[in-house]
Amino acid sequence: MPYYVTTPIYYVNAAPHLGHAYTTIGADILARHMRQRGEEVFFLTGTDEHGEPVAIAAEREGVTPQELADRNAERFKALAPLVNASNDFFIRTSDPEHVRRVQEFLTRIKDNGYVYEGTYDGWYCPRCADFKNENEIGPDNTCLIHTGFPLVLEHEDNYFFKLSDFQERLEQLYADRPDFVQPPARYNEALSFIKSGLRDVSLSRANLRWGVPVPWDESHVFYVWFDALLNYYTALAFAKPGEDLTATFWPANYHLIGKDILKFHGVFWPAMLMAAGEEVPQHLFVHGFLTTKGADGEAEKMSKSLGNVIDPFEIIEKYGADALRYYCFRDVAFGQDGAVSPVAFEQRYDTELANALGNLASRSIAMIHRYRDGVVPSAPLHPAIVAEFDGLAERVAELLDRAEVTAALEEIWARVRRLNGFVEEQAPWKLAKVEEQAAELDTVLVTLAEGIRVIAVLLSPYLPASMETLLGALHAPDIAYDGARLGAGQLGSIDRIDPLFPRIEADA
Ligand code: MSP
Repeated sequence: MPYYVTTPIYYVNAAPHLGHAYTTIGADILARHMRQRGEEVFFLTGTDEHGEPVAIAAEREGVTPQELADRNAERFKALAPLVNASNDFFIRTSDPEHVRRVQEFLTRIKDNGYVYEGTYDGWYCPRCADFKNENEIGPDNTCLIHTGFPLVLEHEDNYFFKLSDFQERLEQLYADRPDFVQPPARYNEALSFIKSGLRDVSLSRANLRWGVPVPWDESHVFYVWFDALLNYYTALAFAKPGEDLTATFWPANYHLIGKDILKFHGVFWPAMLMAAGEEVPQHLFVHGFLTTKGADGEAEKMSKSLGNVIDPFEIIEKYGADALRYYCFRDVAFGQDGAVSPVAFEQRYDTELANALGNLASRSIAMIHRYRDGVVPSAPLHPAIVAEFDGLAERVAELLDRAEVTAALEEIWARVRRLNGFVEEQAPWKLAKVEEQAAELDTVLVTLAEGIRVIAVLLSPYLPASMETLLGALHAPDIAYDGARLGAGQLGSIDRIDPLFPRIEADA
């Protein structure tokens, strides 16, 4: 089955930070997992280049918006391979291929009768590029998302999108599909926004030049969110030269988004698609914010504008992409907010990656070398571990079908812990001393080798580089999901490995 997963497209008004790496890694884990299962996967990420936030940043830096976009898009493009993301395409909204299709799509909405001319009177946040309803306005007319940032009172002739026409259809969509938005708290949030009564929204801006020109009135550009949301749809038509992938991959299986952009994805986006007569995406998965402790000890959002950014580039350089990939989904459950910190990162790295996983692999392989000359014995697997692994691959798949990236990792990790316990219980070094226990030792060693292999197959979407090394050492490089069962491997001679996750030196 085709599987299409997306990240939001990132604004090029700032440099990439951990919040961006986070969604990209989450989507990559799903994409890699689905590929293991033999699905035909399309994974999209990219940059959102139009609109006021970019125009403002460019002006501040004394460059044109296109220059700023070109420069920063490169940095986002570079982030993807650095976190080891396996995206199939990188869309830039200033690409003429996208621009043309936005114009076609929105003209179709107009032709279907959902666009009219009107005047916008109300508050607007240039940082969010968002028109604010009364309940979205903070004290003294400030932005609730960009705390304290003054909103601007706008009076402007715009084209409007008849969002209000979709009130019932959206309510029906939510009623029919309780898993349209996950987790459930976010579903409720989007639904209550809809139920509070939808108002029509500005579709164009007259006082801005940096955007997709409105084809029927070139004195306007489309409001950036309409242009941006359409990336998920337009990309399929031109990502692969000479081939239109829309019929294969639309509707998307999962849009992964942060909680701050739920209204656009959960309300505007399905309405736009309905207005054009297209299918709506299957699911949105809404994640929380990675926060950091501020100077006052209170958790705060990590963002460029607050100047408290943890640099993913630095972490990767020091510890490798796998360590970052692991940490992002381990300390904070995907879907919730939570604090991240360098101290917590180092703890998890040492105790979980270096010790629990890395050391389990090293010592198991070392014992097979010490006691069996580096050849995994053929012997029955230990029934206790067979029982522990029973149904694991199915459970992980079921969780990842729902984008439960942290819960699936926990399932796998419970087996990492179990295998460590098994080593201690069985004490192979004692069995090795007694000749009559050779068969038992064989069972322990083959069970460890197989257990590690299965864990490596299941963890490979999370830790692609280190699990490739490990599976290479086991001479079992195949990560196809069928192999994620204990006993599916045909292990023979195996190689010693260097530590997968070298311990952090005291002075590092
Ligand atoms: N350009 C829009 C999205 C358009 S999608 C059609 C945008 N861009 S953004 O660069 O500001 O944010 C992109 C994503 O990063 C959002 O999902 C946002 O929630 C996420 N994050 C930004 N900071 C974050 C954290 N500190 N933690 C987790 N994710 C956060 O919005």
